Amino acid sequence: MKKGKKVSIIGAGNVGATVAYSLAMKGSCHEVVLRDRNVEIAKGKALDMSQAANAARMHTVVSVADDASGMAGSDVVVITAGSPRLPGMSRDDLLMINAEITKEVVADVKEHAPDAIIIMVSNPLDVMTYVALKESGFPKERVIGMAGILDSARMAHFIHEKLGYGAGQIRASVMGGHGDDMVPLPKFSTVAGVPLTDVLDEEEILEIVERTKGGGAEIVGYLKTGSAYYAPAKSTALMVEAILKDTKQIHPCAVLLEGHYGHSDVVSGVPVALGANGVEKLFEMTLNEGQKTKFAKSVQSVRTMIDVLKEKNFFDK
Ligand code: LAC
Repeated sequence: MKKGKKVSIIGAGNVGATVAYSLAMKGSCHEVVLRDRNVEIAKGKALDMSQAANAARMHTVVSVADDASGMAGSDVVVITAGSPRLPGMSRDDLLMINAEITKEVVADVKEHAPDAIIIMVSNPLDVMTYVALKESGFPKERVIGMAGILDSARMAHFIHEKLGYGAGQIRASVMGGHGDDMVPLPKFSTVAGVPLTDVLDEEEILEIVERTKGGGAEIVGYLKTGSAYYAPAKSTALMVEAILKDTKQIHPCAVLLEGHYGHSDVVSGVPVALGANGVEKLFEMTLNEGQKTKFAKSVQSVRTMIDVLKEKNFFDK
């Protein structure tokens, strides 16, 4: 019997497992396959989640792929595999390590799930999305990075905290890379259509912008040994669902720019419509000079990291 929609998740750590759990709790697909170096832990989590799905009266089955062929037939492959930054490791060290991991994983996707849409979650996010794109050779519509939804959700939460009202009605907008230079856009953010700039003053908005940029680090500061995973996972699950259900929902995602916003051969976060074909449409918003400058700076940070990989002949091997 054909099983229906299938999602493979590479890396069953906190983010990967929580993506699987979110999908299972909503019955978003028929099958979730986890793949992790630690097969035993992945099997334990998969069993636990399949049982949770039954408790929730959902049909989703979570299982584990012992080898890469287990991802065959996937509609979507979510990649969360990567090393965290360990003491003594430079940003460039981490960049090389995760780029190598991504290369390896993407080769498997290419071989076993050549028609899948890849959602990249590993950091540094925009660069890893670029690596996945180059290594897979997939059309750019089928390689999409998660981050804009997360960063926008963080901004929305900070706006709500500041306002004390409007929960669930806040549309916050963030574009650019998932790094210190991300570009929160208060002018494009509203509370149920009421412009943010009409309910908060400049200083309050600036505080929200800065807190959004440091949103990931704030959580690491509390957790000490790890980073956020509930919001990153939920953001990823929303992308998976938009693709599987072909909703054409608009979300900020990391995609290849080819002249868009004046930038090329680089990945950055911009609003796109997600559907069965992956990126169905890329929106070019009219930015003012200040926003353009900030976006260009964010794009440049990503490009600098891509250049490090190019200098090390990463893409030639
Ligand atoms: C975050 C890191 C993990 O933003 O990317 O939480």
